[in-house]
Amino acid sequence: MSKNRWIKKIEKGQSFDKERLSKSDLIEIAKWAASGLETELTRISWEKVTNIPRSIVEKHFGTFTQLKSSANLIPSRSQRKISNLIARHEEYEAIKNLSKERKSWAGKYKKPRANKGRFKTCVIFSDVHDKMCDAFVLRVLVDTIKRVQPDNIIIGGDLFDAPEFGKYFVDPREWDASGRIKFTHDKILKPIREACQTAEFDLIEGNHDERILKHLISNSPALMDVLNSIHGMKISDIFGLDKFKINYIAKGDLHTWTASESKKEVAKNNKVYYDSFIVDHYPQTRNKVGLPGVNGHHHKYLAYSMHNHTYGSYLWHQLGCLHVRDASYANGQPWNNGFMIAHVDTENKSTIWEYINVGDFAIVGGQYYLRKEGEFLID
Ligand SMILES: [Fe+2]
Ligand SMILES: [Fe+2]
Repeated sequence: MSKNRWIKKIEKGQSFDKERLSKSDLIEIAKWAASGLETELTRISWEKVTNIPRSIVEKHFGTFTQLKSSANLIPSRSQRKISNLIARHEEYEAIKNLSKERKSWAGKYKKPRANKGRFKTCVIFSDVHDKMCDAFVLRVLVDTIKRVQPDNIIIGGDLFDAPEFGKYFVDPREWDASGRIKFTHDKILKPIREACQTAEFDLIEGNHDERILKHLISNSPALMDVLNSIHGMKISDIFGLDKFKINYIAKGDLHTWTASESKKEVAKNNKVYYDSFIVDHYPQTRNKVGLPGVNGHHHKYLAYSMHNHTYGSYLWHQLGCLHVRDASYANGQPWNNGFMIAHVDTENKSTIWEYINVGDFAIVGGQYYLRKEGEFLID
């Protein structure tokens, strides 16, 4: 009796003595059964399709996995390695395309200067970390922007926190990537943009922002949550670029293979303002460009006195953050909260820095602000 006859009997639902099946019959039947399935052949689907009991398989092969292996239904280690590599390269291509696209988000919302004169004012802040933003610092910042009406509003990176995409474990039941995006739009970007419609508004990409973009391309469960909840959004909408007229500044490439390569690329994300100073997320530029500037990322305020032949003596500042200092997962006590007002003389290319340190009170241009009781995280 040919092997095909057994398969024909199975197809017709005819009963036969399964004890008569040989090892090679079972291999043929397994190949046939697998070819008719859209998913992988499992013990359950095998019994459902063939009606051949497990005991017959075990008699010849010991385990069901061994039958699958003999029928070449399990990819070998080298086959698996190749398909993983193909998948990785495919993802790499997709990230490369997004990397190119995001570079076009840099100059979409150039604003005609409200103040056309010699002096320009820029309000610079960094490390907002979405829901972890300190309510009091944000209140002082928004009110300052309203009063100062700066020419430029600049975020020095890490607008988002998005721990769902990080390397540390987050309980999936607590994932709320789409909630964080909505929060950032409604509670942070909206009041800032409403406080000054005329300012040119830039977001320099930080490592947390870069991480979101990368994961949007990868097929992660956190991504599925984002895409399900904000269906119809373009990737740039996640950062509110069109809604709040924001330029996204990212010069580094997204398509990197290792964490250290990623870090090098994020370090390229910076912008020079009025040929006078540079804003960067990471601090490395301080010793490279010979320009005054500010950086974020470390959540701690530091000032450096620098000198070179072009500028003479100048200052570099590492900004405090907007991230609340009392965070259960981070030792935030040594951090500082605050932001910078930079006054630029565009003729002499010199900048006067006015760092606003925010604790339980703050003072900006003679105006005092007091932290209300319990004014930490935003409701
Ligand atoms: Fe940060
Ligand atoms: Fe950072």
